[in-house]
Amino acid sequence: MAATRRLSHSVAVITINNPPVNALSSSVRHGLVKEFGEASKDPSVKAIVLSGASGKFSAGADIREFSTSAMKTVSLEDINATIEASRKPVVAAIEGVALGGGLELALACHYRVANAQSRVGLPEVLIGILPAAGGTQRLPRLIGVPAALDVIVRGRHVPATEALQLGIVDEVVQGNVVDAAVQLARKVVGRDLDKRRLSINHVPSNPNMEYFLDTAVEKAKKQFRGAQAPIACIEAVRASVQKPYHHGIEKERQLFLSLWATGQPQAQQYAFFSERNVGKWTHPSGGRWDNVKPKPVRTAAVIGLGTMGRGIVTSLAKANIPVIALEQDAQQLETGKKAVNALLEREAEKLVKQGLTPAATLASVCFTLDFAELSAVDLVIEAVYENMKLKKEIFSKLSSVCKPDAFLCTNTSGLDIDEIASVTNHPDLVIGTHFFSPANIMRLLEVVRGHQTSLTTIATAMNLGKILGKVAVLVGNCPLFVGNRLLGPYLEQANYLLEDGCYPEDVDKVLEDFGFAMGPFRMMDLAGLDVGWRSRMEKGLTGNKVPPGTPARQRQGYRYSPLPDMLCEIGRYGQKAGKGWYQYEKPGGRFAQPDPWVKDFLQKYRETHQIRPRPVNPELILERCLYALINEGFRVLEDGIASGPEDIDVIYNNGYGFPKHRGGIMYHASTLGVAKVLDVLDTYYRENPDVPSMKPAFLLKKLAAVGGPPLKEWRTQVGSLVNKL
Ligand code: CAA
Ligand code: NAI
Repeated sequence: MAATRRLSHSVAVITINNPPVNALSSSVRHGLVKEFGEASKDPSVKAIVLSGASGKFSAGADIREFSTSAMKTVSLEDINATIEASRKPVVAAIEGVALGGGLELALACHYRVANAQSRVGLPEVLIGILPAAGGTQRLPRLIGVPAALDVIVRGRHVPATEALQLGIVDEVVQGNVVDAAVQLARKVVGRDLDKRRLSINHVPSNPNMEYFLDTAVEKAKKQFRGAQAPIACIEAVRASVQKPYHHGIEKERQLFLSLWATGQPQAQQYAFFSERNVGKWTHPSGGRWDNVKPKPVRTAAVIGLGTMGRGIVTSLAKANIPVIALEQDAQQLETGKKAVNALLEREAEKLVKQGLTPAATLASVCFTLDFAELSAVDLVIEAVYENMKLKKEIFSKLSSVCKPDAFLCTNTSGLDIDEIASVTNHPDLVIGTHFFSPANIMRLLEVVRGHQTSLTTIATAMNLGKILGKVAVLVGNCPLFVGNRLLGPYLEQANYLLEDGCYPEDVDKVLEDFGFAMGPFRMMDLAGLDVGWRSRMEKGLTGNKVPPGTPARQRQGYRYSPLPDMLCEIGRYGQKAGKGWYQYEKPGGRFAQPDPWVKDFLQKYRETHQIRPRPVNPELILERCLYALINEGFRVLEDGIASGPEDIDVIYNNGYGFPKHRGGIMYHASTLGVAKVLDVLDTYYRENPDVPSMKPAFLLKKLAAVGGPPLKEWRTQVGSLVNKL
């Protein structure tokens, strides 16, 4: 039964029952209509409580129904209107989550009681739509426009304690929320409910409201770069201020339809489900997420407290896992300790602002220089310098000091997991856990399995990701894994564009207008240009290992751009040095300004190499950079390094600032059409045979040859290729 009803002291308790999250599917909506209708008619019922089964009120509309005819049946807004008009008081008993349509349903009730651990919110914007069952009209009437915009436009989950302060809920209880709601319902029987019927009340407004809303639109345009849903949310809220409720609802509906026509909701919902699907990993041996049990991680250790280590320690402490943090000397240990303390304090401040009690403190972290102290931990994460010799030394030591069944993880950003594992007694317990910077904030975790990594090790690392609140993606072992591997051809194209006549700010602007959080040059400046430079030196692509007589713009017969090496040679390492592709107000400064020096440098470089600069239009800039990414994505798939296009998309969306409203790199390729992608790459490669990264991938050709099937069928085509995962 999608909705059930029982009687408790003359109060009808209607319970939504649709596991796992009580989504308001068509059958739930029908169930609600039936049970609510009967409770309304029943003279023994004096009041009604709405609740959700299994500790969750409701996560809102059933997203899977959006593109089906099920949406055309009884609408949630009609149900909400009936509930709000009820002569018997209706109280929402909120447990777990009341999100999207779930909160809209609760807003239609006359009172709301929430359990202290619950969260409420209107996160529709995160799946490309707007709250379309009255949420944009009722919430501003309840808590005012500024607070409503903050909740709706950011799509954030508001903890119960904050929801109480904001006035979204009337009571927060520690114990049984349904009992509390029944009590409240009995108390309010016979009261005038008009003040509690949000739709007939006015939105608190002031003379500056239009200016406030216009400013919010401008801010959202800058912040969300091309995503339409945040703007639609603000416009719907504007309607709540200017128009009576029924007009506002009509505006909400129109905005929903026009958003749907942009294709962004479909892309964002694909991204939403992809994030959930990547957790369902499979292994060619038959091991899967649902048949291999992870081992518990009760204690952990982190080696190295630099940029990454300190964030990883903070992440573990936040998840209530006691951590031992190890450094190489007393000074580094003290610096690391201060840094971890500062991060934990910042995390605590955020929680306190939301009315929550921080659990993680420095007390749960033990700082040491002594490897012997790691003898009992369940799992170690190594985050020392990116140097194979050093990593092998550390793993060999760990293998001798840790208990034999301890999991040994490396945070390497691209070194060979098998080689690292080879120095240990149990290579089956070694795995890559590639966090992203800042590790306590970024949601992505690439879990890299080596050839000998056991299924239990995979399950444990994937589960650890979940415990840390990350989205963990299982990938295979190849140089640079998935995310950083895709960066290679992308940055290569960005550098070639400078040679051809562009400036860093031209290229960045195009990619940022497309929706990337940051263009390639700002990103390189932020990450530090020296990281790539050192790696190219190790590979003999630059520095004194390059054979004498090698042309400046060629390596092994292929095109090469020495531009980033040249910047590094004069110390322009990026943001941390105060200069790189841009100039900054000071070393470590955050404001990138185009640098006349860079312009001059590029002009001289082109003259030296007799390159005649040509105008490159924005479409071409976008095409070059994006198609380089897409092509490498196909190669990663054909190599079996990622198990499906969704995995690549989740990695790029969550680790590299790809705009989620475009779904992901591979999703974007599918909307462009594989035939078009192939055609553009083919043309480019024919004209530039010295750029092998743009040679169309075999899988791309294969997909085009079978008529460009939809993305959900790509896995089948990949399946027929060799799987290295
Ligand atoms: N519709 C359909 N399926 C949903 C769903 C929804 N609203 N919310 C979650 N699910 C599914 C997930 O896909 C997942 O399915 P599988 O087990 O098959 O993978 C399952 O429920 C559990 O979800 P999570 O893995 O995400 O579980 P969690 O405990 O980590 O998180 C959650 C739970 C916080 C509710 C999270 O799922 C979430 O944020 N859901 C989306 C909430 C949302 O966006 N609601 C608005 C919907 S649109 C709307 O309501 C429009 C309107 O105005 C009427
Ligand atoms: P970092 O240079 O900031 O920190 C490394 C730390 O390791 C230093 O504090 C150093 O004292 C410590 N260390 C070195 N040798 C040690 C030893 N023998 N015992 C104990 N501690 C030792 O380096 P960062 O940036 O934190 O990188 C660490 C690892 O994470 C590298 O493998 C890197 O490739 C990877 N990584 C880095 C990312 C980044 O954005 N910085 C992103 C993802 C991965």
